Amino acid sequence: MSSSSQSSKLNTRKVLSEDNWTKLNAVLQPLLLTDEIIDKIRAAFSDQMHLANSTDENVRKTSDHLMMNTFIRELLDGTEQGDFLGLDLGGTNFRVVLVRFKDGVADTVTQYYNLTDETLSGPAAGVFDFIAESIQDFLVKQGLDKSEQKIPLGFTFSFPSTQLALNKSILLTWTKTFKCPDGVGEDPVAMLEAAIERKTKNLPVDIVVVMSDTVSTLMAGNYLDKKCRVGLILGTGCNAAFVENISDIDKWTGDYNDPKHVIVNVELGSTGDNGCMDFCRSEYEKEVDQFSNHPGSFTFEKSFSGMYLGELVRLVLVRLIKDGTLFNGKAEKLIEGRWKFTTSHVTDIESDAGESQENTKNVLKKFGLDSGVTDEDIAIVREVCEFISRRGAHIIAAGMSVLINYIRLPEVTIGIDGSLYEKHPKFHDSMMEIFERFSPNTKVKMILAKDGSGQGAAFAAVSALRQLAKGIRCS
Ligand code: BGC
Repeated sequence: MSSSSQSSKLNTRKVLSEDNWTKLNAVLQPLLLTDEIIDKIRAAFSDQMHLANSTDENVRKTSDHLMMNTFIRELLDGTEQGDFLGLDLGGTNFRVVLVRFKDGVADTVTQYYNLTDETLSGPAAGVFDFIAESIQDFLVKQGLDKSEQKIPLGFTFSFPSTQLALNKSILLTWTKTFKCPDGVGEDPVAMLEAAIERKTKNLPVDIVVVMSDTVSTLMAGNYLDKKCRVGLILGTGCNAAFVENISDIDKWTGDYNDPKHVIVNVELGSTGDNGCMDFCRSEYEKEVDQFSNHPGSFTFEKSFSGMYLGELVRLVLVRLIKDGTLFNGKAEKLIEGRWKFTTSHVTDIESDAGESQENTKNVLKKFGLDSGVTDEDIAIVREVCEFISRRGAHIIAAGMSVLINYIRLPEVTIGIDGSLYEKHPKFHDSMMEIFERFSPNTKVKMILAKDGSGQGAAFAAVSALRQLAKGIRCS
């Protein structure tokens, strides 16, 4: 598949007939990310960051990024003591986390709670009632429900929001699997406090900070590695946050006292909503968007994030089935199964190493494709999974390389949370290919901050208390 950044590592060419090879190429070739396209993605991304940093509000409004001040300026310093709670709402699971600090060392207990589809598309109050009841359940299990002192709580709320203070924000839109008809324009902290009041009896918690999952992941990454200055989510959705020098924020209206940095939430999943990425949107991305929960928005993350990668692969496979290249033109369950081919199917297939076909065969069986499947079919399915995954990793890494260069540090660690990064066997390496080429002046390291978005929320509660104690501006 030519000499661009998209060349395949599989032996597909050897396995395929000349005819099928030509047909496969005809489908994949238009999706190829040449260096020229990557440069254009990087330029568009860079423009959005600069526009979002403008002193002029009208200019800022033209950007697809928020570059939101989180008000979080304190990072952990190793002296932390005591109990803190973290909540993580935004992906498929809701988590409650207890972090017990002893001399800066965190001991973490996490419990997962499942939100049903019904709750995700019902009134927002139902989501917050569920959270309140889950916190109560967790505190009872931890023997903390009767705690005399309120436990400081950090709330990871992973939806685009305007941050007004450490513990106050305004929801701009739901994304991913959340489709509540209301809640937009409201403060998630106030909604949670109201639910706690409604559903529980005197829960001993004090919500001191609300943040994006990128911010909590950055906090968790920074706990593991002090060079971690960037938090990235590669899960159901995608977004990043970074530690920025206040003097580099043109639109900054706060003080210039110590600490002279602040965490900025980029909100990058929407890059392209204003059309700036149209030049590289394929027919498959457009179809994914059309049938998604939120058409016309979050354009960027629809090219690679966990909620969409599987569907992108499926659409390419369907195209190959329909032109007779794959499965002899017959694979009803795949053709009709919109959203049924998930990113975890892709990661399973991508985990087939070398000549192995086991995972691929198992996934295909789930779609009723068993006895008639040929070696050529398997090679094509593997090739498509690899190609689309690698393309996705290159798209997000192209954006991240702009962010890395923007920070201008010789070494940067990116703390990453999210099932896509954690489970996909090749995403890390594919992203590194881009950093090596497009961020050559920075030594980039990517680390998994597993469950960082929950644990880091509790860490941010530490920052909030410290800032309050030191009189650092929190709103
Ligand atoms: C949301 C972001 C979030 C990201 C990762 C996106 O859909 O808009 O706020 O950080 O998903 O969870």
